[in-house]
Amino acid sequence: MDNALHEPQTIVLLGGTSDIGLAIVRELLSPTTRVVVLACRDTAKGEVAAAGLRRDGLTVDVVEFDGATPATHQAVMDGIAARHGDLDVVILAYALLGSGQATSRDMAEAVEVAHVNFTGAVASLVAAGNVLRAQRHGSIVVLSSVAGERVRGANAVYGATKAGLDGFAQGLGDELAEDGVHMLVVRPGFVRSAMTEGLPAAPFATTPEAVATAAVKGLRGRRRTVWVPGLLRFVFMALRHTPGPVWRRLPLG
Ligand SMILES: NC(=O)c1ccc[n+]([C@@H]2O[C@H](COP(=O)([O-])OP(=O)(O)OC[C@H]3O[C@@H](n4cnc5c(N)ncnc54)[C@H](OP(=O)(O)O)[C@@H]3O)[C@@H](O)[C@H]2O)c1
Repeated sequence: MDNALHEPQTIVLLGGTSDIGLAIVRELLSPTTRVVVLACRDTAKGEVAAAGLRRDGLTVDVVEFDGATPATHQAVMDGIAARHGDLDVVILAYALLGSGQATSRDMAEAVEVAHVNFTGAVASLVAAGNVLRAQRHGSIVVLSSVAGERVRGANAVYGATKAGLDGFAQGLGDELAEDGVHMLVVRPGFVRSAMTEGLPAAPFATTPEAVATAAVKGLRGRRRTVWVPGLLRFVFMALRHTPGPVWRRLPLG
């Protein structure tokens, strides 16, 4: 259970090798933290990440988890809770970026991105919500994206999955709040991470560490949404209402 300083004892990262997810875990670590669970599709890669976190008094478990098999998510989450007790923070950080415009023409890739980023993510949130609701406390951090705020032709499938996920997380968060569970939706802009390696940076590009600082501040302040950098909230207020012909010509990276 979180202490008075909102320092969690038990943290679960779904997408246990995510650069942003691991940065949030590192930012949350305190002497109070007892357990970190890295839930990954590639457990060997997860073990490398776990080795970087381990220290005296902290158990770091690596658990096999595939966002593409939503039917398994409740069992994975229940198993983690059965092994470690109450879960204080669950971070949903897995996603596929796809190949930009090419994804909108490639049936197999479009379906895979949509399945993992939306269907899988919805299942993960339902699973985490059920566990936290039963405990009557805990927080869920969802990595959404500004890409979902106004979906671009350049990455329509990815953007649409983030729009859908963001909407579901907000609605579920309102429902879970009645049971004492906090949902935080984080909307970063372009982040320099493994996901964007080799891509030209978009305006307002940031780092996993900056996203982590903002997310943990948002968690401690019981915020519902956080934009990173914060200025993007106002930028997208304007972009949302920009006429289509102008929007389509903007150099957004
Ligand atoms: N980077 C950005 O510019 C940016 C901006 C806004 C939002 N976000 C969001 O932030 C989150 C974290 O992204 P990141 O930047 O940290 O990228 P990342 O380091 O590439 O992390 C993505 C994670 O998703 C995992 N993953 C992909 N498919 C999976 C599946 N089927 N099952 C389980 N895990 C799966 C990857 O696992 P493997 O290690 O096995 O590949 C990796 O751990 C994502 O939701 C992303 O959409 C990123």
